[in-house]
Amino acid sequence: MLTRRGFARVGLTALAGRMLPEMAYAQRAAVHGTLPKDMVWLNANENPDGPPRSSIEAMAKVLPEGGRYHYQEFGAFYAAVARSEDLAPEQILVGSGSSEILHAAVDAFTSPARPLIAAVPTYEGPLDVASRGLGRTVVRVPLEPPYVPDVKRLVAEAEKAGGGLIYLCNPNNPTSTVTPKKDLAWMVANLPPNTVLVVDEAYIHFGDTPELESALSYVREGKSVVVTRTFSKIYGMAGLRAGFGCAPPELIARMAPFRNNVISIVTVRSVLAALEEARTLLPDRRARLIRTRREQCAWLRDRGLAYIEPQANFLMIDVGRNAREFIEAMPPKGVAVGRPFPPMNNFLRVTIGTDAEMARFREVFWSVYKG
Ligand SMILES: Cc1ncc(COP(=O)(O)O)c(C=O)c1O
Repeated sequence: MLTRRGFARVGLTALAGRMLPEMAYAQRAAVHGTLPKDMVWLNANENPDGPPRSSIEAMAKVLPEGGRYHYQEFGAFYAAVARSEDLAPEQILVGSGSSEILHAAVDAFTSPARPLIAAVPTYEGPLDVASRGLGRTVVRVPLEPPYVPDVKRLVAEAEKAGGGLIYLCNPNNPTSTVTPKKDLAWMVANLPPNTVLVVDEAYIHFGDTPELESALSYVREGKSVVVTRTFSKIYGMAGLRAGFGCAPPELIARMAPFRNNVISIVTVRSVLAALEEARTLLPDRRARLIRTRREQCAWLRDRGLAYIEPQANFLMIDVGRNAREFIEAMPPKGVAVGRPFPPMNNFLRVTIGTDAEMARFREVFWSVYKG
């Protein structure tokens, strides 16, 4: 079994080229060397709260029934996921994490003539699938200060190519910034023919600004828009692998053939239990995250350290020198932080963990910062 720690021991550079893109960037995020037992993991934007108790109980209950496919339950499952966002079952596609839906969107909406267009730096999953997996052209448009996408240029690139797939991560990973809602509205209103906009809303629940708006309303209006959502982040189920895409039925129908399979019944039951309590679970988790994030930001301000105002469950800190020093020095001291995100070489990406984890982060970060 290839565990997170096990990654460190295998000759991975050689292996990465033969692995799926997902595996390859998991490897890039991997931390090397002998690590303390009580390691604090702030490197992959996971949720330290994990699945809610009701999900854990539902999973434990279904384990003895794991010998069956349970196909008959999937119709009701898709309906429950769709209902959670006020959509019809034909407007959603469930996948093994939102990664699978992003992958399906790249398969369905790019071609040798139609590129993937993205504001960078951003989440690399779809870009890797397009370029390394399918050999598609990827047009990278640099984020504009203060780290927002240049929507006019994204649209102009699609126009120039005669269509394509525009990938927009909102809030964006790794910058934790949002696309202002009027820019999103402009982009949807000005999509050229043969163009699909995929908005990755993996972190949308953590936003705390009126500028952040979900693109789901455009899906409901039947625009050429796909929204991806995941159970990996606010729901705390990254290891269970569930996410979904939302789109007008004709776009769902074009992506569906590229899905691999149904997800595990264990995951299905976990998601169903969490959805039952979503109305209280999500606001509670969001409020806790925002409080911890504010405290972390205040600590940085008190020390005169710059950071990008965060809108997701991670934070980009400008360490004033190459962040690699921190990325390498912190894990042996018990705290794993995000990998480098060139060209933002002086920025350190840190996931917001529990209060205790952030206290440990501050201690270790400060010791490295002070040298
Ligand atoms: C922006 C973004 N989208 C999608 C994903 C993939 O998440 P998952 O496949 O677990 O839903 C990630 C993972 O960190 C991410 O950061």
